[in-house]
Amino acid sequence: MVILIDFGSQTAHLIARRIKELGVEVKITIPELVMEEIKKAKPRGIIFSGGPASVYAKGAPTIDPEVFKLGIPILGICYGEQLICHLLGGEVNAGFKKEYGPATLNFQFSIFNFQLLKGIPDGITVWMSHGDEVVRVPVGFETMAVTETIPHAVIENKNKKIFGIQFHPEVVHTQFGGQLLENFLKICEITPKKKSLDKESVENLIKDIKDSMGEERAICALSGGVDSSVAALLVHQAIGKNLTSFYIDSGLMREGETDALRKVFSSHYKMDIQIIDAKNEFLKALKGISDPEQKRKAVGKTFIQSFEKLAKRTGAKFLVQGTIYPDVIESAGSKHSVIIKSHHNVGGLPKDMNLMLIEPLRNFYKDEVRQVGKILGLPEEIINRQPFPGPGLAVRIIGEVDERKLNILRQSDKIVQEEIEKHGLAGKLWQAFAVFAGIKTTGVRGDERAYGETIAIRAIEAQDAMSANFAKLPYEVLEKISLRIVTEVSGVNRVVYDITNKPPATMEWE
Ligand code: XMP
Repeated sequence: MVILIDFGSQTAHLIARRIKELGVEVKITIPELVMEEIKKAKPRGIIFSGGPASVYAKGAPTIDPEVFKLGIPILGICYGEQLICHLLGGEVNAGFKKEYGPATLNFQFSIFNFQLLKGIPDGITVWMSHGDEVVRVPVGFETMAVTETIPHAVIENKNKKIFGIQFHPEVVHTQFGGQLLENFLKICEITPKKKSLDKESVENLIKDIKDSMGEERAICALSGGVDSSVAALLVHQAIGKNLTSFYIDSGLMREGETDALRKVFSSHYKMDIQIIDAKNEFLKALKGISDPEQKRKAVGKTFIQSFEKLAKRTGAKFLVQGTIYPDVIESAGSKHSVIIKSHHNVGGLPKDMNLMLIEPLRNFYKDEVRQVGKILGLPEEIINRQPFPGPGLAVRIIGEVDERKLNILRQSDKIVQEEIEKHGLAGKLWQAFAVFAGIKTTGVRGDERAYGETIAIRAIEAQDAMSANFAKLPYEVLEKISLRIVTEVSGVNRVVYDITNKPPATMEWE
């Protein structure tokens, strides 16, 4: 097994997942407990994750330097590399410029004898996300690869089997990232065996849910998205009639969504779904709020209040939620990570809530959730549904939320969906949607000056929610969307296209 030390990385869990996919057991731990865990688990390898701190910052997470004397191979990723250099006598500087996104990795030597990069070609694209950088390696280390801006992108202490890399091999945008991790495991004298989710693992999951819930009753709030649908179905298979599912219509859904969901659930799931109209409560809770985090909390709180009311009616002890791993980590689910944004189904929960949470997908990524859905026999249209944020259109309206803005956004978004579908692009995209940018600009209609709203279009390609590229949609499609929005949606003057990757931008605007 391998120990992964989490220094607060957004992707620590993703590193663990990549290792698990190679059939190798991994234990995530915090730096403070490392020596204890090593004694207990006797790992063959140790990985240091990245993290948001600078090694020089007050209170920055560090590690007992004894770990370097154990003779166990170590791989430091990003902050992990910086910490290795800092603790072993190298030098780290605040980066000349922060770097997010792709870089080209160039080998320094013929890597004939360099096991970590074995089978990986020179000149691959790697994904960066960092501020600081290593400027001098410790004695005993050699630099094996550089990028245009990073002088020590891959370093090695051959005798001690300690390695550092500045980029993130765990994200899908790093080419040969899986190969690099596999090479590290081989250095640790572990033989990787690729493994994926199968029927048996899903059956085990259902059994675990059944065991932990016993005869208790549960409620589940369906959002119509794949996460809550799969979570509900898993729990339904585990406890059957003891689960009551609700769909709370917050008024923050896309055009036609509530009706479509009603149909899908009654025909496909054969589950008893109760639809609750709570539009007014949500609009009231959002009144006067512009701050994105406050909005998420307000929506979360209103959802929870509705759940609690419903729970009282059904006598439920448990609340089922479709929280998936990126929701947990972006809401600062691990000790050293910082909050990117609080996802309503994690960040907004009150401390005195009377319901216990069941989150069967808490350790899964989106593509894994889809895989579970497939194994459960869910129809393609649900499995491949675009992700939709819990706080709904509230986080796609910049500024205060009201009915007028919601209407403009719904109409614009419908046009985006129609055109993406018409041009056969839906299957290639993670998401495509409209954003109410909250900026008024000048235009001209007929011979008159007009002053109207701006709609932004966001279309993204991704394999998991941790990193993404903006989609290079054909200009004809963008033009058609723009033309239709400014013609068909009253009050909109201008349409813009968001050309930012994640990182540094998140997918949703808020
Ligand atoms: P971000 O904006 O964090 O989004 O890059 C990553 C993915 O997560 C979706 N998202 C949410 N899903 N509750 C959810 O269930 C939320 O509060 C939430 N916020 C964002 C987002 O649509 C994207 O696919």
